[in-house]
Amino acid sequence: MHRTQRKGGKIYVEGVSLEALADRHGTPLYVYSAGTILDHYRRLRGVLRVLDPLVCYSVKANSNLAILNLLARAGSGFDVVSGGELERVRKAGGKAAKCVFAGVGKTEDEIEAGLRAGVKAFHVESEEELQTIAAVAARKKGRWAPVALRVNPDVAAGGHAKITTGTYANKFGIPFEEVAAIYRRAAGNRYLRLRGIQMHIGSQITQVAPFRAAVRKMVPLVARLRDRYGLDYFDIGGGVGIVYQDALASGRDGWWRTAKAQRFLTLHEYAASLVSLLRDLRMQILLEPGRFLVGNAGVLVTEVLYRKQTGRKHFTVVDAGMNDLIRPTLYEAFHQIEPIGKPRPGAISTDVVGPVCESGDVFGHDRMLSPVERGDRLAVLSAGAYGFAMASNYNTRPRPAEILVTGTRARLVRPRERVADLWRGEKKS
Ligand code: LLP
Repeated sequence: MHRTQRKGGKIYVEGVSLEALADRHGTPLYVYSAGTILDHYRRLRGVLRVLDPLVCYSVKANSNLAILNLLARAGSGFDVVSGGELERVRKAGGKAAKCVFAGVGKTEDEIEAGLRAGVKAFHVESEEELQTIAAVAARKKGRWAPVALRVNPDVAAGGHAKITTGTYANKFGIPFEEVAAIYRRAAGNRYLRLRGIQMHIGSQITQVAPFRAAVRKMVPLVARLRDRYGLDYFDIGGGVGIVYQDALASGRDGWWRTAKAQRFLTLHEYAASLVSLLRDLRMQILLEPGRFLVGNAGVLVTEVLYRKQTGRKHFTVVDAGMNDLIRPTLYEAFHQIEPIGKPRPGAISTDVVGPVCESGDVFGHDRMLSPVERGDRLAVLSAGAYGFAMASNYNTRPRPAEILVTGTRARLVRPRERVADLWRGEKKS
């Protein structure tokens, strides 16, 4: 169910109007729907229930403690990629035993922290890393490290070049053909325990075919390694895409209808195509969704500062910038933009741009918007994933406040940064 919708002309997140939140907390402002996050978590587990998977939420998508806590209480595990993310999860009440520790460049300090915390496993991306993990474990007398190899299945997943990961043109994972030999060598090392095997082919994947192709390619290898080394789990990674066009679907189940209309994979197709391949493995199945859980749950609210016409173009200058949400700049990503108040009649074509001193600071080119005025607020939709998490302080801009809405209750889960926060620790002489 999509919980961000227009009611009486105004946009609400669950039972709270964005206008009320913007009046109270100012802009730019991130607003998340707890109900949407939990709903997507449950739907994903629901369609795959015959596998009883462990969902390991990919923390990088949105690492606010309140969101991690929400998911931890729902039973979620976590996919972390740094010592910092691991600490966040534990601070939020998540269990290290349900954390998988991924990343191509773990430092020895991070490996040690993961061992000390007792992570479920390290997802290992090279043989040198494997040796390093064994060496760190050996230094801690009598310890061994739980590991799983991240396999690069060499399957193209489509999508933007900067977020595809599953082919040999990418730095990620261990080439499919080398995996068996590395497990064999690792099996002889008393400081390692072979726990599972992992893959991840990319992000914002909107079709079932790449997932199915990769899993189908992996299954015989996984079964062989399971028999040989007693692997417990197969982690099929994240990457399930979400709707960015027409994200503001109204009414019950609007989100899912939209996905279907755009010929996106639906959850049922995703499940139907994978369950038959995975069930017979009789292993624990792990998933690492990030965007799917939080993407459509979040909006970025911004205020119109100025309008201008250059002769060639009309611009709408807003108070959020590429430092707050970098996806359009970095990936040419599309985010729907909507006035949060009742739309005025008519439509204009405009470029919605931020205040940052870069021509790339654009949220949308040539958008048809209802006419806006100074002081109006706009919502940049589907901004819950890789929004705040990728925000920076470029141009010495404090990062936005974050609100988590549950029903009619809105909680400030991160106050807006103050300018003085930004030079904390700096020395002027
Ligand atoms: N697992 C691994 C190993 C990953 O590398 C990623 C994402 C995920 C899971 C979660 O993928 P998701 O379910 O969210 O697609 N900043 C980019 C996306 C980068 C994705 C990086 N890896 C964006 O804003 O589109």
